Amino acid sequence: MALTGLENNDLKLIIFGGKGGVGKTSCAIATALALSENFKTLIISTDPAHSISDCLGQKIGFNVVKVDNTVNLSTIEVVGDEALSAFKVEHFSELKKLLETSTNLDNEDIDDMLTLSIPGIDEVMSFKTIIDFIDEGKFDKYVVDTAPTGHALRLISSPKLLDDWIKVAARMRWKYRYMVTSFSGSYQPDEVDTFLLSLKKTVKGIENILRNNSRCEFIPVCIPESMAIMETGRLLSDLGKSGIIAKQIVVNNVMESDGCDFCKRRKAGQLTYLNVISETFDNLIKVEVPMFAEEIKGLETLNNLKSYLFREA
Ligand SMILES: Nc1ncnc2c1ncn2[C@@H]1O[C@H](COP(=O)(O)OP(=O)(O)OP(=O)(O)O)[C@@H](O)[C@H]1O
Ligand SMILES: [Mg+2]
Repeated sequence: MALTGLENNDLKLIIFGGKGGVGKTSCAIATALALSENFKTLIISTDPAHSISDCLGQKIGFNVVKVDNTVNLSTIEVVGDEALSAFKVEHFSELKKLLETSTNLDNEDIDDMLTLSIPGIDEVMSFKTIIDFIDEGKFDKYVVDTAPTGHALRLISSPKLLDDWIKVAARMRWKYRYMVTSFSGSYQPDEVDTFLLSLKKTVKGIENILRNNSRCEFIPVCIPESMAIMETGRLLSDLGKSGIIAKQIVVNNVMESDGCDFCKRRKAGQLTYLNVISETFDNLIKVEVPMFAEEIKGLETLNNLKSYLFREA
């Protein structure tokens, strides 16, 4: 089978996830290459390991750049801590004022607090950066490559974390608002309120796109090995709890050749797990990709992978 439905105009965000080393980055780039034949496509890496740079053999960073020797394909590496730093720089005055008006902290404490990292906030900012790109609308398709399983889950649950943070901030503000109203009789919303409102809009935006199966699709990548199957099962179950239902799964590294004893044994060993995959993920379309003799690096091998992911039945 081949990956299907990705050309649907409503579908904007395609997220690849799975266990470490199963081929997420390779499949994400190959998919983006295929989509870029008809759509302006942005491939976004949220993996701090910079694997897209390595796979494409091109230096990429926290800026959108065109992928060399392609027409409609651009890429960016959205690294959580850089996204967070950029956010803090952009909103420093609002964050500082929020703390000044809602806490008894002195200036030094506030500065210290603003340099602290809240757990998970990096992922929130990565996702916010992705949503900001989608809102800008410069591309038709956004393909996201994630770091191994836990990261994809953290990324996807990040809007809830941001929402919890906004709730705490709003409660702190409510007290401040109450005091101002008590002393002066009225309250004029200020830039901090506007900032919190815009963050709330971001959370809603992320939720809206994530939970909308026609606008966002999560594609798990798995290999025919026991641990990968178990981890994929847990990933899909956790995603399901957040209302994200996968439709298709890439089964990578499938041995095709049985020309030598080693290949024969590998192939026989995989057969058991291919059956387990069929049973465990019986509701998903399976897209099998063979194990290639060479690693996937550079456009030629990526195009080869693309032809398997999108091969005619
Ligand atoms: N079908 C395949 N045949 C041969 N090599 C493959 C295949 N798929 C992936 N590879 C190779 O396996 C390695 C891991 O692939 P890739 O980086 O795409 O996985 P990943 O899931 O993104 O890994 P990570 O979890 O570290 O981000 C790479 O060296 C890649 O070239
Ligand atoms: Mg990767």
